[in-house]
Amino acid sequence: MPSCKSVYDPQEDSTMLEKYVRQYAKGKVLDIGTGSGIQAIAAAQSKNVISVLATDIQKGVIDYCKKCIKNRKIKFMQSNLFRNIKGKFDTIIFNPPYLPQELKVKDLTIDGGKKGYEVIERFLKDANNFLKPEGIILMVFSSLTKKEKVEEFIKNSLLDFRELENQHIFFEDLYVYLLRKNEFLKKIEAKGISSVEYLAKGHRGIIFTGIFKSRKIAVKAKNPKSAASGRIQNEAKWLEKLNRLGIGPKLAFAGDDYFACRYIEGDFILEFIKKSNKAQIRQAIKKIFMQMLALDKLGIDKEEMHRPLKHVIVSGNKPCLVDFEKVHYSKNPKNVTQFCQFILNSGELLEEKGIAPDRQKIMRLAKIYKNSRNKVDFGKIIGAI
Ligand SMILES: C[S@@+](CC[C@H](N)C(=O)[O-])C[C@H]1O[C@@H](n2cnc3c(N)ncnc32)[C@H](O)[C@@H]1O
Repeated sequence: MPSCKSVYDPQEDSTMLEKYVRQYAKGKVLDIGTGSGIQAIAAAQSKNVISVLATDIQKGVIDYCKKCIKNRKIKFMQSNLFRNIKGKFDTIIFNPPYLPQELKVKDLTIDGGKKGYEVIERFLKDANNFLKPEGIILMVFSSLTKKEKVEEFIKNSLLDFRELENQHIFFEDLYVYLLRKNEFLKKIEAKGISSVEYLAKGHRGIIFTGIFKSRKIAVKAKNPKSAASGRIQNEAKWLEKLNRLGIGPKLAFAGDDYFACRYIEGDFILEFIKKSNKAQIRQAIKKIFMQMLALDKLGIDKEEMHRPLKHVIVSGNKPCLVDFEKVHYSKNPKNVTQFCQFILNSGELLEEKGIAPDRQKIMRLAKIYKNSRNKVDFGKIIGAI
């Protein structure tokens, strides 16, 4: 048998995983980081398996496998994770390199990145796009990789996991996990959303991005940790209403516990101010004020506009309001006056950009507007900035 020094000699992690590959592998199988081909061979030997695509980042490994392994069910291909892979699989197997990069010599068979979990993180980010709705992932990793981190990546990828086995070996614990798409992911994928990726978490909501009809969208779902109920549905209703006024990202569709809307590529308001020049900032501020006026006129309070740090995304010079969790009808909507407060609180930053709003004057004008809520008094505020 020819030898290849970069082929990973099967170790305890390999044999532990192999056991479950024999038990669970089914249909069309993808074995990532095949090394000696141990998992690919085990899968091919199962009568539930139709075909195996075995890949590795190292060309030497693939050349070695092609020479040594003759099995009509298995095909080999060089690929960095999913880069050269096409199609969807019933089973994805991965025994990743998972050790923190302590050694100066870079060894692709064991080196999982600086912290040890970077390769796993990249794998989990993309895996869903290559997994059929009822598909499974079989993966092994070590306590040296930080279990909590791996579980966080799994959850953020909208996967459910089950620990099949753990074993203490010398200085580490090894874990074999079986992962599946969670119900929420299956539901939104069935709606035609692909490439779902975690973006951010708030108290009540959790936001993912995805592709819908060739466009990037944001999907907001209930944060499982939040006890509040009906908030997401409420937000979707408001977004639909406000879209008619040209406010907020366009709603694509909503379900009982999520909604999907256009993804706004841009900067949050403070970042935008830091990056932009006086004319651009003035223009964006004016456009935000116009939206505040429209809301005030309709008796709608967005709330939190005195500190809209994550409530306005500026794309080009076009500001878009986001996050409508707290919107409600009010006899005394405070959108314009709250945004005046933000302008006053951002005095230093604006001054750096050559915009020096007169504090006293704006405070006075905001008070007058508060009582009249008319367009003339609103115009005076705009004129003062
Ligand atoms: C720990 S070994 C596992 C080998 C074999 N599957 C087993 O279970 O014994 C990890 C393998 O992943 C490969 N690998 C490392 N980074 C990779 C990447 N980004 N994409 C694909 N393969 C990778 C390495 O070349 C190595 O063969």
